[in-house]
Amino acid sequence: MSEPGSFRAYLEAARVAVDGELDRLLPAAGEPPARLHEAMRYGLFVGGKRLRPALCLLAGELYGGDREQLLPGAAALEMIHTFSLIHDDLPALDDDDLRRGRPTVHRRYDEATALLVGDGLLTLALTTLVSEPPAMAAERRLRATRVVGRAVGTAGMIGGQMADLEAERSWPKAARAALESIHRHKTGALIVASVRIGGIYAGAGEEADRLLTTLAERLGLMFQIRDDILDVEGSDETLGKTAGKDARAHKLTYPALLGVDESRQLLGRIADEAGELAAGLPGDGGVVGSLIRFVATRDR
Ligand code: IPE
Ligand code: IPE
Ligand code: MG
Ligand code: MG
Ligand code: MG
Repeated sequence: MSEPGSFRAYLEAARVAVDGELDRLLPAAGEPPARLHEAMRYGLFVGGKRLRPALCLLAGELYGGDREQLLPGAAALEMIHTFSLIHDDLPALDDDDLRRGRPTVHRRYDEATALLVGDGLLTLALTTLVSEPPAMAAERRLRATRVVGRAVGTAGMIGGQMADLEAERSWPKAARAALESIHRHKTGALIVASVRIGGIYAGAGEEADRLLTTLAERLGLMFQIRDDILDVEGSDETLGKTAGKDARAHKLTYPALLGVDESRQLLGRIADEAGELAAGLPGDGGVVGSLIRFVATRDR
């Protein structure tokens, strides 16, 4: 068990609550078309840290939000993240066989099902964001939907995925700037949106939104730098996904460009910046400090 007050403990509790909410929101596995709904649940419920929903809950709770009110949006973020992983693993993208410790959705089912599962998860997420919880002011739900939609779209995660794939074919000239931009888009954008909508649901103001945004930008970049390092240093068993794939695919990553040591130093510097920004948040900062260390040092 994790220490109380640590982010790991927060994440464990969040995972239980978010999984319950996902179960409520998803069509039952037997509901037609049963193969599709079963595969949606397979992709979602085979593990996964649930970091993005936990970030939404944490930001929301820091600003006085009520967990029950935050949960549908938090679950929607996990649906979108899982959609991005299922499509990321397809043969046309990263071509991975292992995810969350089990065969990827297209390996366990087939490619067409994996495509449609992703489409289904994204669509359900957006309808959830706009309509839940019904008791929350419609203006907040609309704002959250707009923030998440933009973060996922072609100027966000999807655009970042495109740039990631293009860079694989040939690294762009200004590789360092391009790499940071790829990571900010493919991974950072959804992490920023996750933190921001917690604040939006809690009714935090513009100033809080700016602080949450700049802090979450650091977290998003750190998260993907750590992911790149883990691809080099981790194993299939600990990661639950195929290690060592980035170099084989000629991906533009931090370790590929700077080496592992320099990547780690950069990660430490961004973590320090995040720590300074976090001092402006409400609360005693304990869980947020622990969150920053978690993102910088996680091993899966
Ligand atoms: C993996 O995300 C993909 C990236 C954006 C780096 P996570 O490491 O959060 O994956 P799960 O949800 O825990 O499986
Ligand atoms: C994934 O980046 C970013 C997404 C939007 C899914 P990676 O391709 O590095 O993620 P993993 O290593 O497969 O989880
Ligand atoms: Mg990828
Ligand atoms: Mg991948
Ligand atoms: Mg990776």
